[in-house]
Amino acid sequence: MSHPIPEVTLHDGLKVPVIGLGTYKLKGNDGVHAITGAIDHGYRLIDSAYNYENEGTVGEAVRRSTVQREELLITSKLPGRYQGYDDAVTAIQESLYRGGLDYYDLYLIHWPNPKQDQYVEAWQALMDAKKWGLIRSIGVCNFLPEHLDRLEKETGVLPSINQVELHPFFNQADQRKWHEDHGVQTQSWSPLARAAELMKNESIHSIASAHHKTVSQVILRWHYQLGAISIPKSSSPVRQLENLSIFDFTLSEREMNRIGELSHPGGRMNDQDPAFYEEF
Ligand SMILES: NC(=O)c1ccc[n+]([C@@H]2O[C@H](COP(=O)([O-])OP(=O)(O)OC[C@H]3O[C@@H](n4cnc5c(N)ncnc54)[C@H](OP(=O)(O)O)[C@@H]3O)[C@@H](O)[C@H]2O)c1
Repeated sequence: MSHPIPEVTLHDGLKVPVIGLGTYKLKGNDGVHAITGAIDHGYRLIDSAYNYENEGTVGEAVRRSTVQREELLITSKLPGRYQGYDDAVTAIQESLYRGGLDYYDLYLIHWPNPKQDQYVEAWQALMDAKKWGLIRSIGVCNFLPEHLDRLEKETGVLPSINQVELHPFFNQADQRKWHEDHGVQTQSWSPLARAAELMKNESIHSIASAHHKTVSQVILRWHYQLGAISIPKSSSPVRQLENLSIFDFTLSEREMNRIGELSHPGGRMNDQDPAFYEEF
């Protein structure tokens, strides 16, 4: 890799690379190979979750890799069904046992599940786990401003990161503005919108050919220039490398706006509005 991956500093001081590896569906022996290969290619941030059932795969890749544990940033996430305080503490411990790790760099509440109404308790468990040294930085996924506001009011602590669905069809402009105003780092899940319709988009194709880059590289560069950390998943060494090669060109303001204009209110992939949608 010719260009090093830039880092951002979270509000609690943790430095995180601006691009990481998504691991949804990377499991078992193939998953370990895909992840160790990605680490060899330069990935240092690896995103997993209790519910992906691959914390063991990620932990094995960490042990097999030649890169020191301290140089890697490993993320996992608390499932909705364990948001009660005691369950959350046990789930964090179970995540560590599954991964064979002493600590997670980032641990996130996976969904707010507002009808269940336990996310504040879950947040208190994450705050305590951080004090006990089990987690370096605590964050959330899919929290709307109203959920973040409540965490701050009731615990005095805002998440370091909010990982949200973000891609050109759903650019999260208002949510990103809220994050910026409150010092919360935006992280993009499904940054390539799972490489389906978006990959055929003509505007992005024309921008890509103007820069002699691929469509994926243009999309991931757009995330970077928005200030969001992206975590594209790829099982392929070639595409993993392709996705990291985004630091040798710049999109103009006009190109950024053209991509931004592809966003529309119904642009979420599976209509998972965190105000209503719950995941356990
Ligand atoms: N917090 C949450 O609620 C949440 C929700 C969803 C996802 N996530 C996280 O976000 C990560 C990324 O999201 P995602 O996996 O849903 O979708 P994604 O990263 O947008 O897309 C992954 C798909 O794109 C393909 N791909 C990757 N690079 C490519 C390239 N350069 N050219 C063409 N195709 C390419 C991959 O295929 P190959 O593998 O064959 O390359 C895979 O099918 C997940 O893996 C997970 O860690 C979090």
